[in-house]
Amino acid sequence: MRALTYEKHGDPREGAVKKVFDPRPGPGQVVVRVVAAALNPADWKIVEGKLPFLVFPKKPFVPGCEAAGVVEALDARVSGLREGDEVVFSTGLGGALAEKVAVPALQVERKPTALSFEEAAAIPAAGMSALQSLRDLGGLRAGHRLVVNGAGGGIGVFAVQIGKILGAHVTAVASAGKHELLDGLGADALVDYRKTDFTKAGETWDVVFDVVPSRSFGACSRILSPDGVYVTTLPGPGPFFASVAAALRAPFGFRKRCRALMLKPRPEDLGWLLERAAAGTLRAVVGKTVPLDQAACALSDLAAGHGTGKTIVKIAA
Ligand SMILES: NC(=O)c1ccc[n+]([C@@H]2O[C@H](COP(=O)([O-])OP(=O)(O)OC[C@H]3O[C@@H](n4cnc5c(N)ncnc54)[C@H](OP(=O)(O)O)[C@@H]3O)[C@@H](O)[C@H]2O)c1
Repeated sequence: MRALTYEKHGDPREGAVKKVFDPRPGPGQVVVRVVAAALNPADWKIVEGKLPFLVFPKKPFVPGCEAAGVVEALDARVSGLREGDEVVFSTGLGGALAEKVAVPALQVERKPTALSFEEAAAIPAAGMSALQSLRDLGGLRAGHRLVVNGAGGGIGVFAVQIGKILGAHVTAVASAGKHELLDGLGADALVDYRKTDFTKAGETWDVVFDVVPSRSFGACSRILSPDGVYVTTLPGPGPFFASVAAALRAPFGFRKRCRALMLKPRPEDLGWLLERAAAGTLRAVVGKTVPLDQAACALSDLAAGHGTGKTIVKIAA
């Protein structure tokens, strides 16, 4: 089979589509013929060697954390799935930018028939990131005011819609070219970050979701409501020490919090998203679709940081 491969860390454009061995289902695994795979920032960060402590698990490295396709073979111990089933799945760290992938059956969900393979592939990582950030970390609920910084990218387009589903007033921060899309997704207010700094607009929010992320808890503290939460997609020492410092001030009445996303793939969360997408109340936004031969360039474009919704690699008809 063919796959996008990397022999060493470096420029995502240096990936080559090569023939590699067909996978076989290991214990508890299914082999899926991939129809569409989605690109994520994690893919280019792994390729560039930017995720600390993470070297290529094996060479050649095949990126791709999620895809949708058709079950082609199963380990005898797998139940509940059959050859020919249309599925959507997360792989973990890589492997999805290939014609076939072996994946644990526990990471596989049925693709709703109402969704195309491209739409289904666009949902898992970005959708679950948005859901877990807003519902679990932000505690977002009806009547809250939410601002999404980086609203037009993979996670942002889900965050705007999930914010509306949860009953919040949503301000979307994105470049002007994405405002029409975000208006159509239900954003209540739009900010072009190239013209206006949302942290200096004199407004306060219950949840600041810094998707890009380009801000900090310190910079956003004064625009948080007294119980407000700043949620960043970049865990690390900054958010860790900010959350400890906030907790130390809690006995003196300081209730603002800092939280950092550590995405946990959860079947129930993916089910929540797929159900709403199939019902038409949540839209998977596919900004660009490319064939496998152009996946390396598309990964490089994503690394530039200005993508719209999800980039999909169409691998089979
Ligand atoms: N911690 C975790 O578990 C976890 C899980 C998943 C993802 N992530 C991280 O989350 C981040 C976002 O992921 P994503 O999939 O949404 O990325 P993405 O698809 O690349 O989207 C980023 C968006 O930010 C916008 N943007 C760029 N600079 C901006 C700025 N200065 N102000 C406002 N918006 C700006 C871009 O478009 P415009 O500039 O045109 O508006 C783009 O739409 C990545 O760093 C990713 O690694 C973390």
